[in-house]
Formats: sequence, structure tokens, C-alpha cells
Amino acid sequence: MQESHYFETNDGERLPKIGLGTVYIKGAKGVQSTLSAIQNGYRLIDTSTNYNNEGMVGEAIRRSSVPREEFIISSKLPGEVHAYDKAIMMIQESLYRMGLDYFDKYLIHWPLPKQDKYVEAWQALVDAQKFGLIKSIGVSNFLEEHLDRIIEETGVVPATNQIERHPYFNNNELVRVNKERGILTEGWSPFGRDKVDVLGIDVLKEIGEKYGKSSAQVVLRWNIDNDVLTVAKSASPENQRANLDVFDFSLTPEEIEKINALDKGEPGRVEGQHPNEYEEFD
Ligand SMILES: NC(=O)c1ccc[n+]([C@@H]2O[C@H](COP(=O)([O-])OP(=O)(O)OC[C@H]3O[C@@H](n4cnc5c(N)ncnc54)[C@H](OP(=O)(O)O)[C@@H]3O)[C@@H](O)[C@H]2O)c1
Repeated sequence: MQESHYFETNDGERLPKIGLGTVYIKGAKGVQSTLSAIQNGYRLIDTSTNYNNEGMVGEAIRRSSVPREEFIISSKLPGEVHAYDKAIMMIQESLYRMGLDYFDKYLIHWPLPKQDKYVEAWQALVDAQKFGLIKSIGVSNFLEEHLDRIIEETGVVPATNQIERHPYFNNNELVRVNKERGILTEGWSPFGRDKVDVLGIDVLKEIGEKYGKSSAQVVLRWNIDNDVLTVAKSASPENQRANLDVFDFSLTPEEIEKINALDKGEPGRVEGQHPNEYEEFD
């Protein structure tokens, strides 16, 4: 039987197992690389108001010949607009920027617990889903206590939680917490961005040699084999294609354990972005 290339969310969406990350991809050059990704088969595109590229993503969608309903377009609510009314207006503004009528998926970008407004922000997403502005609602960088608080105060469980995850910071405990609550984990910075040398790790190269795959492909497969959706950024057509070519092999439990053993805990994070500390306001 052919493996499904999709995960199902608890609110009924079908999400591709690999999505395109778009951090730093913007402007006319960004439209070209996003169009290339669409031609190479990407349908899930991950953006954020904070990436300043929602316009570029909307432009690439319009220029592609792919029908709107085939895409899963995902954006994120910035920290400065967690207050309910501001959040609703931001979602509407983001849609205008992209030239879209609805988001397939939309996340709270960071919990910002020191501001303590993320429950209000979550209520805004819950209502925006009812208004038809968003199909699937989720969060990003939420820890167990943040998840439990929004679930308790609104009764609505997020569909996804997008968190940092790569072999040096596997975040396995939070992946487990998500799974326990029926929340799909999305992993960000799978290759450590350009800040952590994930792709040079010997264990990944050795496993890759066995299957004729690169270290990047082994990381993507490690996520799939752990029921984690990956948001991987690539502006290069060659890497874009390679990152989708991960459905013809799978890792053994021993190989998964070897990769799990590479975890460095807190020091392994890309940029010291602990969700209780990190605040984004631009
Ligand atoms: N929710 C959050 O707070 C949050 C935080 C960070 C990131 N994200 C999302 O996650 C996405 C991915 O994370 P990221 O952009 O930080 O970094 P990443 O995906 O870990 O790494 C991107 C880097 O890996 C390279 N690369 C991609 N595919 C490759 C391959 N097959 N072989 C070798 N190198 C490869 C890219 O180069 P080329 O472009 O040349 O291919 C780029 O330099 C972001 O773009 C964003 O959408 C979310």
C-alpha cells in the first residue's frame, strides 16, 4: 500500500507531511523561488506576518496555474496583536495582503506568557474559524502549560503546534505532550537553519548512505516516522525537490533512536528561543 503523504488534523484538515518554509524568502526573487517550489509539488506554504512576505506568497499563488483549493496556506499572528479585537483585524489584514478569502491554517506565532494575552488571541482564532476566515487553527511555540490553559479556558484543542525540532534539539517531550492531546506537531528549522550544523552530523550521513539519501532527507524521514509534519525552507529548486523525495524509505526503530540520542537539550536550540523568554514584536 502506498504511504499517505498527508496528516489529518483534529479539526478535519488534510495537511501535506512536508511544507515549504518561507523565512527570508521575499520580494520578486521570493516569488520566483516560491513558484519553483509550487512547480516542484509543494502545496503547504508556511508564512507569517512577521516574515514580511505574505504579499509575495499571495503573488506566487496567483501566478501559479494551481487552483486555490489545492493549497494549504498558513500564516501566524504576531505578538503585538494578541488582544482580541486587534487579532481579528490582523487576520483580516493578512488576508488582504495575500489577496485571499480564507486561510487553510493559521497559528499564534509565540505565546508571550509575560504579556499574558495568548488566551484572548486563541479565542480570536476560535471565532475567526467560525466566521470562515480560517479552516484549521493552531499555535506555535506553545509549551504544555500554555496548551492546557487555552484548552481549559476555551474548550478548543489546537489542531497543530509548530515547534523547534531538529536532531540537536528534538523536543521529544513536547512532541509527546502534543500527541497526548490530539495535536499534530509541526517541526520548524529541521536543518538548524544556517546556525546549527545539523546536516554535517556523521550519524545522519551514515544512515543516509544506507538508503542513498542525504542527511536532510534522513531528518525529514525521522520526522515523518515520528508523526511530525516538517516545515522546511529551501529557495533552491534542487533542494526543494530533494526534500519531497522522502516517501520511498523509512527508518528502523534503532536508527530513530540513534538520531534521538543526538539531542543536546537546551544548548541545542537554534537561537536560545525559549518560548517563555522569546518575545517578538516586529
Ligand atoms: N514558528 C516559528 O516560530 C518558526 C521559527 C523558525 C522557522 N519557522 C518556519 O520553519 C521554516 C524552516 O526553518 P528555517 O527556515 O529556520 O530553517 P531550515 O529549514 O532548518 O533550514 C534552511 C536552510 O537549509 C538549507 N536546505 C534546505 N534543504 C536542503 C537540502 N536538501 N540540503 C541541504 N541544505 C538544505 C536551505 O538552503 P537553500 O535555501 O539554499 O535550499 C537553508 O539554508 C521557516 O522557513 C519558517 O517557515 C517557524
